[in-house]
Amino acid sequence: MTILVTGGAGYIGSHTTILLIEAGYDVIIFDNFSNASKESIKRVEKIVGQNITLIEGDIRNKTDLEKVFENYSIDAVIHFAGLKAVGESVEKPLTYYDNNIYGTIVLCETMAKYNCKSIVFSSSATVYGDPHTTPIKEDFPLSATNPYGRSKLFIEEMLRDLHLSDNTWNIVLLRYFNPVGAHSSATIGEAPQGIPNNLMPFIAQTAVGKRACLSVFGDDYDTHDGTGVRDYIHVMDLADGHVKALNIIKKLSEVMTINLGTGVGYSVLDMVKAFEKASKKEVPYCIAPRRAGDIAKCFADPTYAKEILGWEAQKGLEQMCEDSWRWQSNNPNGYKEED
Ligand code: NAD
Ligand code: UFG
Repeated sequence: MTILVTGGAGYIGSHTTILLIEAGYDVIIFDNFSNASKESIKRVEKIVGQNITLIEGDIRNKTDLEKVFENYSIDAVIHFAGLKAVGESVEKPLTYYDNNIYGTIVLCETMAKYNCKSIVFSSSATVYGDPHTTPIKEDFPLSATNPYGRSKLFIEEMLRDLHLSDNTWNIVLLRYFNPVGAHSSATIGEAPQGIPNNLMPFIAQTAVGKRACLSVFGDDYDTHDGTGVRDYIHVMDLADGHVKALNIIKKLSEVMTINLGTGVGYSVLDMVKAFEKASKKEVPYCIAPRRAGDIAKCFADPTYAKEILGWEAQKGLEQMCEDSWRWQSNNPNGYKEED
């Protein structure tokens, strides 16, 4: 089976590509490199010991996409391509709607034209907004507090409408919680451009000496130590969720919406402590004001994923921190030679 992986050069896409190839799938990566480097694919090729078909193109460009479907017989698409920085989405909402929503429309139109109607979509726990309680189940109310989140919510709705209009589509919506960690080879990992927005890369860059100190955004939340609680999930576990989703995708009669999380919440200070232990480095921090739009607690009820996919997270916090540290310390500037 041939899988088109949009955004396959990015953080989650590159890790998923490894498991897809190991599971025997043929993979075609399609990426515009707006937030990735070709080096990530070279390294994936080394890990899997084979060349990977890589097509540079933009999902908003019909001609780019049609060429792929003309040249290859694609059985299913895993759709990672998208912009993901919450703060940037507030400043540039149209850019986010254009890239994420319009891009998905062009992708689905092209898929339909070539009769490829199986898609796994990268959604996010952000679609739960500020949940009334935790752990979060898939049937909780949905809302969004920023254009990035709204783009995910709209795409989910759009894909549901698509299925209503034509039930030969097979659609899986995977709602990721907080992906962290890296492949055990420490040759690929998360490589944010500029100052990281997310906690784990910021901690890792602080431990390696690239940042002076971590700002902990708020210590007065209603959590066990006052700092924000999230469900951190190892990126290889997340990648495995996609392989498991492909195993069932052709048998679906309904749109499947599935949380991918561990079911365990850790606070910012829990993460700092665990990272210090794994790296044997100090992570200096100071308490800063709350970040606008943040919520106190967000963690998954992953029961449905186990039931429907036979998937559950295998890697714990220690391994997440060890793997993040190994990647960061071996590649202090990510995929670049120097910063
Ligand atoms: P990433 O930025 O590392 O990967 C996204 C990839 O898509 C990049 O390689 C980028 O170059 C590519 N891309 C973006 N726009 C494109 C376009 N128009 N055409 C072609 N390629 C394009 O991000 P990631 O962390 O790997 O996330 C993958 C997906 O998962 C995204 O859709 C993201 O919104 C979603 N997600 C991520 C997180 C997270 O915390 N990392 C959480 C929930 C959901
Ligand atoms: N945090 C800090 N300091 C930092 C960065 C983060 O204290 O420098 C705190 C945040 O306040 C929050 C926690 O660390 O309590 C996690 O923050 P992240 O930015 O790493 O992650 P979020 O949960 O805010 O959001 C992430 C992605 C979203 C995605 C969501 C759910 O950025 O796009 O996970 O998957 F939707």
